[in-house]
Amino acid sequence: MAGACLHSCLSMKLKYVKGFLTLALCLGLWNCSSSEESRVLPQPNAMTYGKGSFDASLLEREPARFRQTLVEGITAAEGYRLRVTRDSIVLEAADEAGLFYGQQTLRQLQRDNGRIPVVTVEDAPRFAWRGFMMDVSRHFYDTAFLKKQIDAMAALKMNRLHLHLTDAAGWRIEIKAYPRLTGFAAWRTAPLWKDWWFGSRTYAEEGSPDAFGGYYTQQELRELVAYAAERHIQIIPEIEMPAHSEEVLAAYPELSCSGEPYKHPDFCPGREETFTFLQTVLDEVMDIFPSEYIHVGGDEAGKAAWKTCARCQARMKREGLQNVEELQSYLIRRMGAYLTSKGRRLLGWDEILQGGLAPGATVMSWRGIEGGLEAVKAGESAVLTPGSHCYFDTYQDAPHTLPEAMGGYLPLEKVYSFEPIPDTLKADEAKRILGVQANLWCEYVPTVEHAEMMIYPRLFALAEVAWTQPEQKNWADFHRRALVWCAAFEEAGYHPFDLAHEFGNRPEALTDIDHLAKGKPVTYHLPYYPGYAAGGDAALTDGKRGGWTYGDGRWQGFIRRGRLDVTIDLGESMPLSSISADFMQVCGPEVFLPARVVISVSDDNENFTELVVHEHEVVRDGEVRFVPYGWTGETTARYVRYQAQSGAFGGFVFTDEIVVK
Ligand code: ACM
Ligand code: ZN
Repeated sequence: MAGACLHSCLSMKLKYVKGFLTLALCLGLWNCSSSEESRVLPQPNAMTYGKGSFDASLLEREPARFRQTLVEGITAAEGYRLRVTRDSIVLEAADEAGLFYGQQTLRQLQRDNGRIPVVTVEDAPRFAWRGFMMDVSRHFYDTAFLKKQIDAMAALKMNRLHLHLTDAAGWRIEIKAYPRLTGFAAWRTAPLWKDWWFGSRTYAEEGSPDAFGGYYTQQELRELVAYAAERHIQIIPEIEMPAHSEEVLAAYPELSCSGEPYKHPDFCPGREETFTFLQTVLDEVMDIFPSEYIHVGGDEAGKAAWKTCARCQARMKREGLQNVEELQSYLIRRMGAYLTSKGRRLLGWDEILQGGLAPGATVMSWRGIEGGLEAVKAGESAVLTPGSHCYFDTYQDAPHTLPEAMGGYLPLEKVYSFEPIPDTLKADEAKRILGVQANLWCEYVPTVEHAEMMIYPRLFALAEVAWTQPEQKNWADFHRRALVWCAAFEEAGYHPFDLAHEFGNRPEALTDIDHLAKGKPVTYHLPYYPGYAAGGDAALTDGKRGGWTYGDGRWQGFIRRGRLDVTIDLGESMPLSSISADFMQVCGPEVFLPARVVISVSDDNENFTELVVHEHEVVRDGEVRFVPYGWTGETTARYVRYQAQSGAFGGFVFTDEIVVK
C-alpha cells in the first residue's frame, strides 16, 4: 500500500498523491539544484553512495522495481534500510514509521533530473522523542497553520508536537463540561499579547467587539490528531496546572483561593472542586488525544495565596505536607495517579521535581538540563528542552535586524551544537533521556509569518540533534544543507529566517580587547548576581566582551540595590585618556540600561575625583540596546571607580568589560 503510494510519488513527481507525501513534492527541494551533494536532512546515520543512479521514471512502467516491506531483521524502532541500485529500490523497516522515514530520505535523495543515486542507507533515530512545542495561547494560530508545521516536522523525521493549549493569555481547547473556558477565557481584550499583558489583562465575552483570541473545537483537534498520526507524529496536549491559569480563574473564580476573579494565577489545591475540574478537563482531553503522555505544565507556580489560604493550610495539615512545594507536589502526584488510572503518563516542566517527583512522571527539563538529569538518576524519564539551546522565542541573529523577541541569542549553530547526553550519565540513565524538543513561546510572535521565521531553520538543527548520532554530525555540511532547505521552504510558502544573510554575533564579542585594566584586580563594593557571574571577579577586566545576550557567560549581572560599584587597581599611577563600559537593555526579561553612571579616579584609593556623571531616563520599549557610558580626556591615576545605578524600572544591569585606555 505504502509502496504504491511512493511509486506514484516517484514517478509522477509533482502530482499530489496522498496527503503525507505532498509536502515533499510541493517543497520543490529536489528541483532547486543540480548539485550532487546530499540534501538529506537530518543526516542519516549510515549512508554510502555507489556508482551510477536509478531512473525513477522507470517506476511508472515497472512498479515492481520498487519494493518496500516490513521485516524482522531490523530491530531499531523507526529505523529503516534503503538500497538503491541502478535497477531497483528496496526499502525495509521494522515498523510503518520506519518505512515513512525511509520514504522521506528517498525523496530527498532524488535529483532534479528524476534520478536517484545508487546508495545504501542504514538509519534509525538517536532519540525516540523528537519534539517541537507551539504556544498557541499567547497568540492563537489556526489548524491550517499547525498542519503546515506538521508537514515540515514529518519531512524532518520529527514525531512529537506539543501544544501549549492553556495559559493566562487564552484557553484554546473546547471543553464541553466548562463552556466558560471557550465562551470567555479564550478571549482577551487586546490582539497583541504585549499590549494586553502590560495593559488590562482582562477577558471578554466571545463575539463581543473587544474579544481577541480563539479556540479549537474538539472536532478540529480530532482532525489534527489524525492528520499528525498519518505522518507518525503524536500530539501532546498541555493543560497548565497549578499556575499560568489566570484565564481559568477569571471564568471560574471558585477554583481559586479567594474565590474572586483576577486575583490569582494558581488554582487552589485546598479545594476539592479544583480536582473535579482538572480531572473532568483531562477526561475530555484524553478523549481527543490518544498520546501516551499528557502534559500538565507545573511551571512557575508562585503559590503565594496558598500560604494564607485556610483551605490550602487545612489540606497541608491533613496530608502532612510541610510546605507549599509539597502541596504542589501533592497536586501533581494526584493528577499523575489519575492519568495512570486511565492508562496515560504524566509529563511536566521540571518544577514538578519540587516537593518530590510523582512516581512514573516524566520531566521536561527547561531550566537547563539539570532537572532532566535528576529525574533519570531517580529512575524516571526526561525530555530535554533547555532554554540555552531549545528556546526559539529568542533572537537568532543580531537583534537590530529582527522583530522584537523575548530576548536571548540562539543562532542556528548553537542549536546544532546541543549535545543532550553528558558523559557523567550511566548507560541506563542515558537511556531514560527520551529525547529533545524545541519550544516556540509566542508572547512576541503575533503572526504566522513571524512564527515560521522563528522556527526555521532552527528546527532543522534540532531535528538533526534528535535524529543523528554525534559522530555523523558536521556543522559545515549541515549549514550547506540548511541553506538549500531554507530556499526550498521559501518556495513552498514558508517564511524561514534569511540564513544566507545572517549577520552573526556582536562584533565586539568576536575578538578580545587589550587595554590598561586587562587582567587587573577588581574590588566589588556591591556583589554581582551569582547566576550571571560571567566567570567571577575577573569578568570585567578579562578582555572579553559580550555577545547579543546577557546569558552568554560574558556579561556580568547586578540586581542588588545600587547595582554596579567597583574599583579597579591599575597597579601604579598612569596617564589615562578613556574609561568606558557597555551596558545592554532588553526589556522582556527586565534588563535595563543604568539611569546614572559615575566614573571617578584616585591615586590613594580614598580620595576620588569624579571625571563624569551620566544621567538619563530609562525607557521601556521593544528595542535591544547596547550603549557605552564612558569618559574621555586626560588624567593620571592608579584607581578607577565605576558606578552604575538602575532607574525607575529596577531590574538587572549588565556590563561586560570596563575598558581603560
Ligand atoms: C517555561 O518556559 N515556563 C516552561
Ligand atoms: Zn487555596
